[in-house]
Amino acid sequence: MRIIVANTYEEMSKKAATIVASQVNLKPNSILGLATGGTPVGMYQELVKMYEDDEVDFSEVKSFNLDEYYPIDRTNDQSYYYYMKNNLFNHINISEDNINIPNGRAEDIEKECYEYDHKIYNSGGIDLQVLGIGTNGHIGFNEPDLTFESGTHKVKLDEETIKANSRFFDSIDEVPKEAISMGMKTIMQSKKIVLLANGEAKAKIIDKMLFGEISPNVPASILQLHPHVILILDKEAAEYIQ
Ligand code: F6R
Repeated sequence: MRIIVANTYEEMSKKAATIVASQVNLKPNSILGLATGGTPVGMYQELVKMYEDDEVDFSEVKSFNLDEYYPIDRTNDQSYYYYMKNNLFNHINISEDNINIPNGRAEDIEKECYEYDHKIYNSGGIDLQVLGIGTNGHIGFNEPDLTFESGTHKVKLDEETIKANSRFFDSIDEVPKEAISMGMKTIMQSKKIVLLANGEAKAKIIDKMLFGEISPNVPASILQLHPHVILILDKEAAEYIQ
């Protein structure tokens, strides 16, 4: 695993954006796996700047987001669909047909999950997966559990996740209790992974993920087994590992 410690959130975001842009420049029809949440906002801003400066072209890129709340409408400003449009897709030249985000209103969840996995598989798999990490060690919305869930599935969100994400909602009661998430197998099958973490709230889990036992109780710990992970941290998130 390659670990990069940046001095600031801005530096972390720039480094991550450079890696994503390089991936797209080297393989214009890359399949990108994308994350939402607070962490990658700066990276998306950098990517928009790079696109505006003609440094990267997304016209052939396909994207698959990690997760979406359930149930939620696309038009809800807390949906991950809305987030991705607002933070990235509306500002770059990715084709609408190439954007994939789990449907937060799917009526047949099993079908939705099966088809999502199938689409990823049929497109050749994810070339570069961007991840954040929850304070409980979740990646995507794969919450701590007794087993690793392999494919896209419906998840019951942990209290800790609901509490952490309530900062984006008017009240904690508005946070959906469930989500649809890509599974661990799909994430682990990505050819490359970039995981970003910033702030002291992530310091303990980063230490556990890197040096703790590999266990579904800390889902991100499985990344110890992935051959190509780049971890980009700011100084605060790297506090216990330096
Ligand atoms: C979001 C996702 C989650 C977040 C994690 C960290 O698509 O998959 O795993 O990456 O909850 O969220 P933030 O960045 O808000 O701390």
